[in-house]
Amino acid sequence: MAVLSATSSSPGSPAADRFLRACRREAVDRTPVWFMRQAGRYLPEYRALREGKDILEACRSPELAVEITLQPLRRMPLDAAILFSDIMVPVAALGAGVRIVDGVGPVVDEPLRGEADLRRLRDRLEPETDVGFVLEAIRLLRKELTVPLIGFAGAPFTIASYLVEGGPSRNHERTKGLMWSEPETWNRLMEILAGVTSTYLRAQADAGAQALQIFDSWAGALDPEDYARFVLPVMHGIFGSLSDLDVPLIHFGVGTGELLPQMRDAGATVVGVDWRVPLDVAWDRVGDAAVQGNLDPAACLAPWDVVERKAAGVLRRADGRRGHVFNLGHGVLPQTAPETLQRLVDLVHAEVEGAT
Ligand code: CP3
Repeated sequence: MAVLSATSSSPGSPAADRFLRACRREAVDRTPVWFMRQAGRYLPEYRALREGKDILEACRSPELAVEITLQPLRRMPLDAAILFSDIMVPVAALGAGVRIVDGVGPVVDEPLRGEADLRRLRDRLEPETDVGFVLEAIRLLRKELTVPLIGFAGAPFTIASYLVEGGPSRNHERTKGLMWSEPETWNRLMEILAGVTSTYLRAQADAGAQALQIFDSWAGALDPEDYARFVLPVMHGIFGSLSDLDVPLIHFGVGTGELLPQMRDAGATVVGVDWRVPLDVAWDRVGDAAVQGNLDPAACLAPWDVVERKAAGVLRRADGRRGHVFNLGHGVLPQTAPETLQRLVDLVHAEVEGAT
């Protein structure tokens, strides 16, 4: 595979280091930038490769996962790669019966609705046998990449939401219903998923992932009180269990403006923020941690002068502070023109930040 030119930087160069340095709130020569869903449907080469193949099937092929992970890096000098996979991969391996439907998202045909249903889910992940293909993809990628590789997992609340609702949900009412009406079942489900998440992430770090992001995409559906009671202890346990690893831990959610202080308290080194809270305000809430974000992904569909103005606004609010990783506030939308992201990477790199 002709992948050695996947990025223009070499190991040990500033470009190779700036993402990890920013995560550790060290000085950087340029603000690092990568995009959630940087490997995905907005790239014609991704659509060509996925043609006729189920996404989970693609995730289970190390060769395909490696190739898809590298695709965006060939187009633009991103400061990190994120493993191509999906948050549902580990629970699918444990027998949750998950399909990913195009344009919809994860669908679970027999949702978990009560205590008896938990027995259908194996409660321990054996990384080499259950998700060996992920670990193999990581090992292969580390041989090819000159920028850091981010591994990831879904957080228990977000995974539970798919398992309990049976698919994507606007209101997460069944998930909250289980949480409020059967707290013991809820706690058991959280305990199982926390163990799986923690085991899975550690295995990814052992295989070579240099940073780990936990996606709690839908945690913003909870108010701060429920988050504190039903989710924060679980997240605290996961981050605590990984704290001996020498890799930055990123904690991301959507619509989590009111939860940012608690997400920081859970123990992440970097907190991801969506676009709803101005970056400086979000940073005040996060306090003593690095911050990742937060351009509205929809802005990337607007004329370039809008992208430019909004991206400059994010950088201005970061104000040269150490510990900013530029990203979108959520994943790249499929309608995005690849050229827009290429120009955005150049724009972020053109702004010199925190070079002292
Ligand atoms: O970011 C990356 O480039 C790495 C790849 C990645 C995928 N899923 C591949 C994927 C990552 C990090 C994820 C995480 C993920 N999956 C999350 C957390 C991030 C977020 O968006 O909040 C969630 C909630 C899922 C569940 C999921 N899988 C959804 C909501 C969808 C989209 C459904 C659709 O078609 O719009 C998927 C499918 C999926 N996973 C796609 C990709 C690139 C798009 C569909 C496809 O390519 O077939």
